[in-house]
Order: sequence, then C-alpha cells, then structure tokens
Amino acid sequence: MKKIWIVNLFTSLVLFSGTGYAVDQPIQYNHYKHTQELELECVMCHIGVKDRVRATLPSVEICIGCHEEAVTDNPEEEKIRQYYARGEEIPWQRLFRVPAHVFFSHRRHVTVAGLDCTKCHGDMAMHKKPPRKAPMKISMNYCLSCHRQLQAKRDCVSCHR
Ligand code: HEC
Ligand code: HEC
Ligand code: HEC
Ligand code: HEC
Ligand code: HEC
Repeated sequence: MKKIWIVNLFTSLVLFSGTGYAVDQPIQYNHYKHTQELELECVMCHIGVKDRVRATLPSVEICIGCHEEAVTDNPEEEKIRQYYARGEEIPWQRLFRVPAHVFFSHRRHVTVAGLDCTKCHGDMAMHKKPPRKAPMKISMNYCLSCHRQLQAKRDCVSCHR
C-alpha cells in the first residue's frame, strides 16, 4: 500500500508540475498532419476563433465528415467512428484557460488585432501527438507586455470584468 502511495505521489508531482496539469486526450490527434500536410485552416475545427469569444474544440461531426470511411490504418481513427456511432462527443481536454475573472475574446485578438495563433499558443499546430501540457504559459504579465507594446488597454477592468 505504502509503496503504491509513494509511486502515486511521485507521478502526481511529475504530472501536475509546470504549466497546468498534464492531460490525456481521448484520441491521438495529429495537428501537424491536418494543418501542415493537409493544410486545413484552424477555423475548420476551432469554429469560433475568428468571430466569437471562444475558439471551441471540434465536435465529432467535424471529424466524421472526413473519417466516415477509413483513410488511414491508424487505430486511433476508428475511435472517431465509435464515438459517432454511440452518439457521443469526443471528450477533448482543455489546455489553455484563463480564470473566470478574466475576459478574453478570440475575435478581438485574431480578427480585430490580426494576431497569429503562435503568439499565444506557441507551436501547438506543429505537434504530431497532443501535448500533455500547454506549449506555453499565458500569464497576466504576458498579456500586459503585449498590450503595452501595441498600445492596447491596460486598466484592470478591461480584462477583469
Ligand atoms: C478535411 C478532412 C479531415 C478532417 C475534418 C479531419 N481529418 Fe483526420 N485525417 C484526414 C486525412 C485525409 C488523413 C490521412 C492523412 C495521411 O495519412 O496522409 C487524416 C488522418 C487522421 C488520423 C491518423 C493520423 C496519423 O498520425 O496517422 C487521425 C487519428 C485523425 N485524422 C483524426 C481526426 C480527428 C480527431 C478529427 C476531428 C478533430 C479529424 N481527423 C478531422 C482528413 C481529415
Ligand atoms: C482537423 C481539426 C483541427 C484543425 C484543422 C486544427 N485543430 Fe487545433 N485542436 C484540434 C483538436 C482535436 C484539439 C484537441 C486535441 C489536442 O490537444 O491535440 C485541438 C487543440 C488545439 C489547441 C489547444 C486548445 C486548448 O486549450 O485545449 C490549440 C491552441 C489549437 N488546437 C490550435 C490550433 C491552430 C493554431 C490551428 C491552425 C494552425 C489548429 N489548431 C487547427 C483539432 C484541430
Ligand atoms: C492574444 C492571445 C491569443 C491568440 C492570438 C489566440 N489565442 Fe487561443 N486562447 C487564448 C487564451 C487566453 C485562451 C484561454 C481562453 C479562456 O480560458 O477562456 C485560448 C484558448 C483557445 C482554445 C481553447 C478552446 C476555447 O474555446 O477557448 C483554442 C482551441 C484556441 N485558443 C485556438 C486558437 C487559434 C486557432 C488561434 C489563431 C487563429 C488562437 N487561439 C489565437 C489566447 C489566444
Ligand atoms: C500579442 C499581443 C497581445 C496579447 C498577448 C494579448 N493581447 Fe489583448 N489585445 C491586444 C491588442 C492589440 C488589442 C486591441 C485590439 C483592438 O484594436 O481592439 C487587445 C485588446 C484586448 C481587450 C479589449 C480591451 C478593450 O478595448 O476593451 C481585452 C479585454 C484583452 N485584449 C484581453 C487580453 C487578455 C486577458 C490577454 C491575456 C490572456 C491578452 N489580451 C493578451 C493584444 C494582445
Ligand atoms: C491585459 C489583461 C489584464 C489586465 C489589463 C490586468 N490583468 Fe490581472 N490578470 C490577467 C490574467 C490573464 C490573469 C490570470 C493569470 C494566470 O492565470 O496566471 C490575471 C490575474 C490577476 C489576479 C490574480 C492573480 C493570481 O495569482 O491568481 C489579480 C489579483 C489581478 N490579475 C489583478 C489585476 C489588477 C489590479 C490589474 C490592474 C492594475 C490587472 N490585473 C490588470 C489579465 C489582466
């Protein structure tokens, strides 16, 4: 018992340290293949990213559009059809999150300010397997330093509403 407890404690320390805690995605989705090789646009799966507050994670409907029939021999692909057949959403886990007291809008940054995703999400789209932690940390200082540089608002209530 004691040994198991120590092993668990150790694993938790490894997994829950650094930027956010480690997540396991339900499917080994490959950003590199879809965005670099197939050249799909981010907005195809993150449908709110240009005109809404939230970018959103893809519904199973979006994936099944191309994966109704097998296009690879990768066993991960079959999982899409299993979720779809059960009428379930794919339970993707979030990596980036600001606390509830912070207001952040994708539309404002992507469409109005014209910023690239990499500014805040690092090399996310280059990953061949889902990263277990956010590839970069977005702290208040990080938001503020860009706002200073690009002369956007820095009063507290702009972000804390
Ligand atoms: C516009 C069509 C399209 C959409 C939408 C799409 N895929 Fe794919 N996907 C493909 C194609 C084509 C391949 C095979 C590419 C290749 O092997 O060259 C592929 C490959 C894969 C693979 C195998 C990757 C590998 O590394 O071998 C997985 C897993 C996968 N897709 C999951 C998903 C998931 C999950 C979604 C939804 C979030 C999704 N796909 C949405 C077209 C699509
Ligand atoms: C075919 C669908 C698809 C496309 C196209 C796509 N993504 Fe994703 N994205 C996903 C899926 C599925 C996840 C969740 C699994 C993962 O983390 O890999 C995700 C997760 C993310 C996340 C993490 C969000 C969070 O907080 O959990 C970011 C950031 C992201 N994608 C950025 C991008 C960028 C940038 C592009 C375009 C260059 C892009 N994605 C294109 C399917 C897609
Ligand atoms: C100026 C910084 C910034 C830029 C630029 C940015 N994001 Fe985000 N993104 C964030 C923050 C902050 C969060 C967490 C938001 C929250 O918790 O409400 C986030 C969350 C996400 C999520 C998680 C799901 C969701 O609904 O929030 C996805 C997916 C995502 N971003 C994709 C993208 C893509 C794709 C682009 C480029 C087209 C992009 N982001 C550009 C800062 C940014
Ligand atoms: C890489 C640069 C950059 C980063 C990082 C960034 N922002 Fe911004 N933000 C901008 C710019 C530029 C604007 C002004 C856009 C416009 O013209 O309306 C803006 C506008 C805003 C606004 C609207 C302010 C108003 O006018 O009412 C809010 C709220 C905001 N950002 C919150 C955040 C938060 C929260 C973060 C961190 C999670 C963040 N931003 C990170 C560049 C950035
Ligand atoms: C550009 C957006 C932005 C502005 C302006 C801003 N904040 Fe923040 N603030 C954030 C973000 C994002 C976080 C969450 C950071 C994180 O999760 O690490 C945060 C977190 C905080 C926290 C919680 C710290 C913690 O450790 O959880 C406090 C307190 C705070 N801000 C106070 C302020 C005050 C006071 C001002 C005005 C002087 C201000 N903020 C202006 C974006 C902003």
